[in-house]
Amino acid sequence: MTADKIKELVAQMTLEEKAAMCSGADFWHTEAVERLGIPASMVSDGPHGLRKQEQEGDHLGVNDSIKAVCFPAGCGTAASFNRELIREMGETLGNECQAEGVSVILGPAVNIKRSPLCGRNFEYYSEDPFLAGEMAGALIHGVQSKHVGTSIKHFLANNQETRRMSCDSRVDERTLHEIYLAAFEGPVKKEKPWTVMCSYNKINGTYAAQNHQYLTETLRDQWGFDGYVMSDWGAVNSRVEDLKAGLDLEMPGSFGANDKMIEGAVLSGELEESVLDTAVERILNIVFRYEENRDRAAVFDRDKDHETARRVAEETIVLLKNDGVLPLSEKQKVAFIGKYAKTPRYQGGGSSHINSHKVTSALEAASGGYDIVYAQGFDDAEDRTDEKLLAEAVEAARNAEVAVIFAGLPDKFESEGYDRKHMSMPDCQNELIEKVAAVQPNTIVVLHNGSPVEMPWIGQVKGVVEAYLGGQAVGGAVCDILFGKVNPSAKLPETFPLKLEDNPSYLSYIGEGDMVEYREGIFVGYRYYDKKKMDVLFPFGYGLSYTTFDYSNLRLDKDKMKDTDTLRVTVDVTNTGGMAGKEIVQLYVADRESTVIRPVKELRDFAKVELQPGETKTVTFTLDKRAFAYYSVRIHDWHVETGEFDILIGRSSRDIVLSKTVTVESTVRLPFVYTTDTTLGDVKKDPKAWAIVEDLMKGGMFGEAPEQQESDAAKEAMSQEMADSMTEYMPLRGPISFGGHITMADVQALVDKLNALEE
Ligand code: BGC
Repeated sequence: MTADKIKELVAQMTLEEKAAMCSGADFWHTEAVERLGIPASMVSDGPHGLRKQEQEGDHLGVNDSIKAVCFPAGCGTAASFNRELIREMGETLGNECQAEGVSVILGPAVNIKRSPLCGRNFEYYSEDPFLAGEMAGALIHGVQSKHVGTSIKHFLANNQETRRMSCDSRVDERTLHEIYLAAFEGPVKKEKPWTVMCSYNKINGTYAAQNHQYLTETLRDQWGFDGYVMSDWGAVNSRVEDLKAGLDLEMPGSFGANDKMIEGAVLSGELEESVLDTAVERILNIVFRYEENRDRAAVFDRDKDHETARRVAEETIVLLKNDGVLPLSEKQKVAFIGKYAKTPRYQGGGSSHINSHKVTSALEAASGGYDIVYAQGFDDAEDRTDEKLLAEAVEAARNAEVAVIFAGLPDKFESEGYDRKHMSMPDCQNELIEKVAAVQPNTIVVLHNGSPVEMPWIGQVKGVVEAYLGGQAVGGAVCDILFGKVNPSAKLPETFPLKLEDNPSYLSYIGEGDMVEYREGIFVGYRYYDKKKMDVLFPFGYGLSYTTFDYSNLRLDKDKMKDTDTLRVTVDVTNTGGMAGKEIVQLYVADRESTVIRPVKELRDFAKVELQPGETKTVTFTLDKRAFAYYSVRIHDWHVETGEFDILIGRSSRDIVLSKTVTVESTVRLPFVYTTDTTLGDVKKDPKAWAIVEDLMKGGMFGEAPEQQESDAAKEAMSQEMADSMTEYMPLRGPISFGGHITMADVQALVDKLNALEE
């Protein structure tokens, strides 16, 4: 429907109808206005499957939903680094929504993994905003290509579950832009999600739902968002203020109470009716965008989609350690140990919880064709060791040639609504791994978890496979990776620290009461570990393959550029091993020298390439200003400092294989305001300004020239270099106290003269 037609429709609506349109008719539907032909429109969770509730709705995944297909959760899909694959997953979800009459699927969830403890990390993508944004963009693109909307969530700075409905995320401006907003910015600008879901928390004192700065100025005015903003379920607490801030749709609703408030505010003049009209227009625009593009022939083919879920799972499993034990051979006698071999943990708890139409375990997938024995090993309802289960498992391991332990985090450890308390696996599982490894030298651990765990046994096992929460088809995918039918090709979208205390947010995570200060600033994840040169268990971007890749011939299409130019980077990648495989090529940019504090390097692009043995492909990246920029709080915009930047190509963030340097010249001069506190060192940076001050110095601004005052001994004690270094931080007003025979008025006159200098 055209914008004009929607405006006409809104003009025919009564105040009551318009107010009602701004909140859900029930848990999952927008209001219908039958007399005007406006249908109700259904939204459903998301993000990694369809949680459509036909009966009583709830937002915590408690009540039943239709049988559907559970894809790998965000933690795993990010590990694929595969935009095309995630787009295909999105297309599949979009088709499922069409078949089920769902207009908007509630996801993707792009919140940054600030701490490994966040209860919802399994749903989120990464500690890096570029990767998170690219994965989200791919999913949005796929879903929306089927004329179904997405709701990128939870906007903004919602990085913990503790007190999620009342906490106040205190984040400085630069950190918000470089880390937390950045994860939304890319996909919102590039893929235009139909809706955005605002989060529960406050940002710097103002609830997200009430935050004009982010909901309107950033989202709409700067990023061009043109869909509707909906609240997270129950995130509205001041309906009229929220509407003014740019929150269009309240979900699920307030049983009419807030509609009355909106009506009252319009009648009293507190709220301009045009603000209400705009919100209704935005909602109707999306309602009709879906309605007019309904695909009534769409079929939800669960078995077919299960196969897609399996293909996605294959690329979300990260091989973390392989001391020559993997892949397994069909001839080996293998003990599958651990409850998750039979009943995999493949999704997290809460609103994303899918009622899977079937689940394939590794044990089931391996039945027939392989020589497998199974022992349960532990009971995940308990943290304590069950001695009988442990003894059986050790016995099975002893009698086999290889032991594969299917371990991880039990359901209760990670879920929406609360955070983890620590980063350990249950004691009973750690003990099982150690006892099995003691009798079986060929022990492999397959992990099922949505967020990093500590691995005290890492030195005792020969293989570790991170299966994340791989969706309902995970068992088949794990099996194919173990036996080499599929070559692992995923890499970690987050750092696994050695221990929780190493994490940069450790000292301030979850905050004090409702106050949560993001004290680590921009140093989230590898940005911190790199800067501190800290050892980690597994770095960001790390993952092994059954083949090997060589990198060569890194080329830049220029070695000097302006920040308005683009840089073309190409690199050759060769499969030098004996098996076909996919490699994730990572491009990081490092600013060699900067006046602001910056990370050592930042991920600016990546590509996944498939290569046959012996095959070489050239990967091309195009970098623009943003790849070199930091967010300047002086100009409230992205800025590049003139200087040299290293273009780094890596297998992981800690395995940089090639690098080349480019000089970037800034086309923007940051305004510099001289004051009486400006240091001589800062004046020196501008030759014109320095010439003036130097003249004054020669004329005795500092009293007699230091050389004349100094004795020979003093001269020996202080070199010119030392003297320069010491005066570097001398403010312009300094000479007043050091015998310069000048007054504050003289210094002020000098300051005015410097500020008047032309560029
Ligand atoms: C969650 C959202 C979800 C919504 C609807 C909320 O509790 O935070 O992610 O989409 O419920 O279920």
